[in-house]
Amino acid sequence: MKLAAETPDDWWEVEALYDLCFAPGREALSSYRLRDGVDPVPGLALTARDKLGILAGAIRYWPARVEAEPVLLLGPVAVHPTRQGEGLGGLLVEESLDRAKGWDRVMLVGDAPYYRRFGFTPLSRVVMPPPTNPDRVLGRALTPGAWDGVEGVVRSWAASPQPAPPKGVTRVPSK
Ligand SMILES: CC(C)(COP(=O)(O)OP(=O)(O)OC[C@H]1O[C@@H](n2cnc3c(N)ncnc32)[C@H](O)[C@@H]1OP(=O)(O)O)[C@@H](O)C(=O)NCCC(=O)NCCS
Repeated sequence: MKLAAETPDDWWEVEALYDLCFAPGREALSSYRLRDGVDPVPGLALTARDKLGILAGAIRYWPARVEAEPVLLLGPVAVHPTRQGEGLGGLLVEESLDRAKGWDRVMLVGDAPYYRRFGFTPLSRVVMPPPTNPDRVLGRALTPGAWDGVEGVVRSWAASPQPAPPKGVTRVPSK
């Protein structure tokens, strides 16, 4: 199995793999609203192909913010049904996160029993746009303590962040 950075030529093949692996209507999920109009993080999206070049798995990431703090949004990640249970999903997660230099924290919406093995834990103070089951909002620090004090609503990278008011100044609510 060969892992490689996803290229523009891979895009539709990866989309087809996601269509196969996820329930119909996957793009209605709230995590997709955070991806609308935003490019995936370059260099982190990976494909896994076998010796014949057949696509077996793929992972992508988008940038997002928790309030003003940058966060990597992991996903979608999928492995072809005929290749599941061979460790490929784990390889894609770990290899891509190894490449995530310059990012302090990563989050996703997914099954805790799967992602806990990669060090993901519930983010009880981080709120995804509805409808999202809060128990499925998980995060992992990529630098020590990177989630400490980071809480609030997950926002699109495209939405300009509200700059923090200078120390000692209270923001005047707009009318
Ligand atoms: C989830 C997915 C990427 C895992 O890929 P994979 O290559 O099969 O995973 P790995 O081989 O690294 O790990 C397999 C282990 O994870 C477990 N596992 C897989 N999916 C799981 C889930 N949703 N919840 C809990 N455990 C899960 C398997 O039971 C297996 O456990 P074991 O090691 O104790 O036998 C793959 O099953 C898939 O594409 N699923 C459909 C799409 C999907 O749900 N993507 C994740 C979005 S949250």
